[in-house]
Amino acid sequence: MLSPGGESGRRVEGLWWLLLWVSVAVFVVVLALMVVSIVRSKGAPDQTAPTESEPRWGARFIVTAGVAIPTVILVAVFVVSLADVRALADDPNEDVLTVTVTGHVWWWEAEYPNGAITANEIHIPVGQPVRFRLESADVIHSFWIPALGPKRDMIPGQTNTLRLTADEPGRYRGQCAEFCGLQHARMGLFVVADPDFDQWVAHMAEPAEAPDAPGALEGRDAFLAGSCAGCHAIRGTEADARVGPDLTHLASRQTIGAASWDNTHDNLTQFVTDAQSLKPGAVMPPAELTPDEIAMVVTYLETLR
Ligand code: CUA
Repeated sequence: MLSPGGESGRRVEGLWWLLLWVSVAVFVVVLALMVVSIVRSKGAPDQTAPTESEPRWGARFIVTAGVAIPTVILVAVFVVSLADVRALADDPNEDVLTVTVTGHVWWWEAEYPNGAITANEIHIPVGQPVRFRLESADVIHSFWIPALGPKRDMIPGQTNTLRLTADEPGRYRGQCAEFCGLQHARMGLFVVADPDFDQWVAHMAEPAEAPDAPGALEGRDAFLAGSCAGCHAIRGTEADARVGPDLTHLASRQTIGAASWDNTHDNLTQFVTDAQSLKPGAVMPPAELTPDEIAMVVTYLETLR
């Protein structure tokens, strides 16, 4: 968040520093007054009740420093943040690339205008604003790419939008920012500002190619015959369920399990064998496949570039 990658991110960062320094100033002043009062009360005569002749500056001080000054500071900060809220707002009339992102327990589905569907790794063009249409399939999640801008809730039955721009190519880590259950902390994602975005999104829209690696064809049969196809889609095959992530180009992703593990052979095998051992509570049950079948399914999945 403190190394912003775009205009929205810089706005949020600026507001963060403003709030920090205002808070630091208030904190220092209050601390100083406390020290003064402690030092001055030492050695002062014990006064239990104010006398009639005592100046009444104490009451005035409390009204000024305890009510008036905080009111001025809070209103000023509110007005400044309103300007940021305005600047960060999405203009629905503006025609920009729109990606629909749906929060699920506990992963992210992304759908592009050309029909490409992917999960947990969302590519966007560099230097162009992108509108995210944010939805939820189950509970309330919150879409947050700290370097690129503010967080925004994903609410069942409602569509929120968030517009972000990434100035430079790069991978920006995101995280669900609304507690949504057991694996909330492992509901991560990457937004990739991709200089070859057009090529990437065209490839993502393509169906999976028929596998030619040894064992991969058997793996595909095991995938389609077993419970895998009940939840996942691999476009180009009969598997078209959308309970779990679309796996059409799974092997092109760098991570699995919502940005939780590197997409290596061992991690993928473990995930297919028993997802619960990596993500306790996740919707995916342990595979009802023999170890040989699991190995072939993984071989097949690794062909899905
Ligand atoms: Cu989804 Cu927290």
